[in-house]
Amino acid sequence: MTRVFSAKCFRCHANGVSKGGFGGMHDLEAMANSKFVDLETPDFSELYMVSESGEMPPSSRDRLTSEEVQTILEWIRAEADTIK
Ligand code: HEC
Repeated sequence: MTRVFSAKCFRCHANGVSKGGFGGMHDLEAMANSKFVDLETPDFSELYMVSESGEMPPSSRDRLTSEEVQTILEWIRAEADTIK
């Protein structure tokens, strides 16, 4: 999980960098509890939707593979399971 985020997102959204006002991705726990992750309906998490649509990462060179997109959704679902 962290591997996908660190390879494809941290550069712009972690460790003090917050492009578009969105940062702190290195803190998975905080991320899971942010408004970008919807633990009630994982599929509607903004974090997942912008990844799935190809909106993020912005450069086509960094495009997520379908496995990576799936990994993100599975992580959100696993987080959702912890609050059930
Ligand atoms: C090269 C820099 C860059 C990378 C890499 C990048 N982003 Fe972004 N991100 C941006 C910028 C710039 C914005 C704000 C402008 C916009 O919404 O297009 C943004 C905005 C966002 C937002 C907020 C959208 C909103 O509507 O407020 C989310 C969520 C997000 N990115 C997720 C991700 C995820 C997940 C990844 C990795 C898969 C990622 N980003 C990779 C630059 C980046």
